[in-house]
Amino acid sequence: MSIQRGGFSSRLGFILAAAGSAVGLGNIWKFPFEVGQGGGAAFVVMYLVFCFVLCFPVLVAEIAIGRKTQLNPVGAFKALGYKNWAIVGYLGLASGVLILSFYNVVAAWAFGYFVEILMGHFDIGQRFSEFTKDWITVGSYSVLFMIGTAFVVSRGVSGGIERAAKILMPTLFVMIIALILYALTLPNAMDGIRFYLVPDFSQITGKVVYSALGQAFFSLSLGMGALITYGSYVSKKDNIVTAAASITLLDVGVATLAGFMIFPFVFSQGIETDGGPGLIFVTLPGIFESLGATLGVIVGALFFLLLSFAAFTSTISLLEVPTAYMVDEKKMKRKKATWIVAIFIFLVGIPSMLSVGAVDGLTHFVTLAGAGEKNFMDFIGLIASDTFLPLGGFMIAVFTAYVWKKENFNLEMANGDENHRRSWLQSYVDFAIGYICPVLLGSIFIVTVLDNFLGIKILTMLFG
Ligand code: PFF
Repeated sequence: MSIQRGGFSSRLGFILAAAGSAVGLGNIWKFPFEVGQGGGAAFVVMYLVFCFVLCFPVLVAEIAIGRKTQLNPVGAFKALGYKNWAIVGYLGLASGVLILSFYNVVAAWAFGYFVEILMGHFDIGQRFSEFTKDWITVGSYSVLFMIGTAFVVSRGVSGGIERAAKILMPTLFVMIIALILYALTLPNAMDGIRFYLVPDFSQITGKVVYSALGQAFFSLSLGMGALITYGSYVSKKDNIVTAAASITLLDVGVATLAGFMIFPFVFSQGIETDGGPGLIFVTLPGIFESLGATLGVIVGALFFLLLSFAAFTSTISLLEVPTAYMVDEKKMKRKKATWIVAIFIFLVGIPSMLSVGAVDGLTHFVTLAGAGEKNFMDFIGLIASDTFLPLGGFMIAVFTAYVWKKENFNLEMANGDENHRRSWLQSYVDFAIGYICPVLLGSIFIVTVLDNFLGIKILTMLFG
């Protein structure tokens, strides 16, 4: 198979690569701190409901569009005959470029922490803000991370992306289980588990609802065409409905497991759970230190290596989207496309890198009516992941159900077999994509925009 476009060599390879895209910093870094800020188990419940009810059907739709057309997100809408809808593809490309631009910086922190802990520097947690401010160090790690990502993507789908996922995903799984078993032995571990599992529904506010939705989309890599792109490499014979179900389960499973690891760690030290983006970076090194020099280095380095691996399979998919666009639409060779796009995105990410302490104007970038003060990196996150992804998901659902039409979507789900008997999962997807997804995604999108940018708290106004 040609390296330019290529394809996954097996169904398992596809599932692991897509799950690799889904499982990332979103699960291990973002999910726990969102749970911490969003009131614990109540957030977890919302997140789980959104993943299965709203995101799973969109996941199937993305894969179906990709597999039907065998093209990148922009080309896919054009190939189905709807040129104007290519705008959804362009929105996806923009989201992908913006997300990777800051994601790579956080990935660089994770990898930097791995190196620091390996050298026994447990005080790195107290020096978190100095670390993120030090743009030369962070910049060097992020160059390394981007080079690694581009190296894999340039080797193509089966030889690069699929191979990396087949090694990294099982390793990640083993590491996470080992760390949970250890975390559960710590003092006060059970308080952490209680915070995580026993919901207090009075904690649910408008912000918790849309943060949970944003998190579900981000975590499943949805709404920007990453799964259209990966879907375009899937065999016409694979069952995409059950593949999407496996991907959702794996992603939700790892996020859930990450909570079982982080909250016992956090509660064992009596630390507040609402530490925000710094939660794991500030709190964990001290916890590892308390294990003593040798064990601390082993467990701590293992943790940050795990975080780096998880991030790596996601940066690969983020880079693959614009690369596939250049290969398909601009007829560029894969190697050349990969490196050009990687350099471009790295440059786009520089202001984000400088916005966590290094440059004052970027650190105190804007103050939004609802969302408050944001640094440049968080501002880009708010636009690309919290706003564009649900918008993209909404448009993909509307497109699939009402423009491309359900008959065609169902035929693709049935691998082109008109006499196929629908499974209950397929029937659910068919129903949800036309009604539940557009209505809920559309309304939550409006609430997010009004709340964050204009400070209009609709849900509070409606429900008190
Ligand atoms: N799903 C990734 C995570 O949870 O870390 C982030 C991500 C990857 C978002 C790829 C979007 C994407 F296309």
